[in-house]
Amino acid sequence: MALRLGDIAPDFSADSTAGPISFHQWLGDGWGILFSHPADYTPVCTTELGAVARLGSEFAKRNVKVAAISVDPIDSHRGWVSDINETQHVTVNYPIIADPVKKVAALYDMIHPNADDKATVRSVFIIGPDKKIKLTLTYPASTGRNFLELLRVIDSLQLTAKFRVATPADWKDGEDCIITPAVKDAEATTLFPKGFRVVKPYLRYTPQPNR
Ligand code: BEZ
Repeated sequence: MALRLGDIAPDFSADSTAGPISFHQWLGDGWGILFSHPADYTPVCTTELGAVARLGSEFAKRNVKVAAISVDPIDSHRGWVSDINETQHVTVNYPIIADPVKKVAALYDMIHPNADDKATVRSVFIIGPDKKIKLTLTYPASTGRNFLELLRVIDSLQLTAKFRVATPADWKDGEDCIITPAVKDAEATTLFPKGFRVVKPYLRYTPQPNR
């Protein structure tokens, strides 16, 4: 069965361009992103892995470790990294996991046979410090992902894990947040000393609490 939000991200051991990885141990106490791509030496995937490398400091700032994965073997990953670095003007400094026997792909349901029965689709899993899955996302092979959106989701997840707020459509770090419905107005006054604005009783905005 497909993994759902709140499930524990399956643990596994596998080889990667950074050496053998024991997934939960590698994640440690921080956040993680595991993302699959269909195949090495393909154009969209090359731009995607380059984009992730370019955002390396942004992920690190948020205490997020990132790992890529496909069913290609480790030698293929190692050779392709040179191409990514050359063409995308980056240094790939995160692991690319080799899954030639599709062990991890099966655990994470990354192969969607009616799309492609041999390669992983473009899956993303954001994993919290509790090892639980906080976001899943699936894109087709033809469409490269927007990795800035993943940073935006991480910002929201980290904020809403600490404060009793949610983030509205298209929210970006620094913008007003929504007070969760379970918080009564009287409690909101103490929880959100910067104040709050009531549009409807169920729609209340407050400045971002940690800004
Ligand atoms: C690509 O990365 O460009 C790609 C990979 C597999 C199928 C289609 C496109």
